[in-house]
Amino acid sequence: MEIIRAIGAMREVAGRARANGQRIGFVPTMGWLHEGHTSLIGLARECTDLVVVSIFVNPTQFGPEEDFERYPRDLERDAVLAREAGCDVLFVPDGGEMYPEGYATYVYVEGLSDLLCGERRPGHFRGVATVVAKLLNIVQPQCAVFGQKDAQQSVIIRRMVKDLDMDVEIVIGPTVREKNGVAVSSRNMYLSGDERVQASALYRSLVTAKKMIEAGERDVAAIVAAMRQMIESQPAARVDYISIVDSETLKEVTRLDGEVLIALAVWFGKARLIDNMVFTIENKKGKG
Ligand code: PAJ
Repeated sequence: MEIIRAIGAMREVAGRARANGQRIGFVPTMGWLHEGHTSLIGLARECTDLVVVSIFVNPTQFGPEEDFERYPRDLERDAVLAREAGCDVLFVPDGGEMYPEGYATYVYVEGLSDLLCGERRPGHFRGVATVVAKLLNIVQPQCAVFGQKDAQQSVIIRRMVKDLDMDVEIVIGPTVREKNGVAVSSRNMYLSGDERVQASALYRSLVTAKKMIEAGERDVAAIVAAMRQMIESQPAARVDYISIVDSETLKEVTRLDGEVLIALAVWFGKARLIDNMVFTIENKKGKG
């Protein structure tokens, strides 16, 4: 596995691969790799010849009070995990390489960026869309893989790629979970042992929602209330939001129909955890 730090060198390697007829698969990350990331690398491996993984803790997607400085970083450890998962090229630019002096251009996906997590983290998705657009321009992959864990991010990236006519296929990999249901995340390292146990209530609340929907419940407020009660019974939990939205527009729904996303964000101590599930609901005509 090759480690590349400069944009020029990355372009060269990618350009050569494409000239040789190789398909490039790309997995952007912020490092501190875990099973969620390695599952996406595995997916990229399956459908492409050259797998590029980027590690860049992107300053433009962190708010001033957020954990940019504290975000875990360990390139040596990440390099081993990336290689074992099937990465061919690890692209690790630094801040000056990505945002040199005078940098002034941002990508902003209107509407979608200001809902759910975007409402609580102003500027976050502008930073995400900007860095992903830059990375896609540098690596020019045929296929880029993102995780369902960050459902809103995936919707925004898809929208950006469509709106800006970017020639790349976006693949979304399923959420990888720990045995107790907690979605694997770099930020889980902020949790104490006890908080980690309590955090399994997030997944349990989504499973409860699933069961309620399967049993015919169509009342959005009733589902959200049941989920909230379940999560708030954990002493360390502080609910940020629980929302049921259209899976494409991310707008709150009043009636369960078609493809909906149940998304939530909950604080446990210093860690803000997010999770979600997608449901396809087919109501019989004339009912509900
Ligand atoms: P990061 O949080 O490192 O995540 C990188 C990719 O891994 C994202 O597509 C994310 O959705 C996916 N991922 C994280 N946890 C996962 C899990 N438990 N199961 C499946 N996939 C998971 O998301 C980012 O970085 C950044 O915003 C980035 C896109 C790299 C832009 O800076």
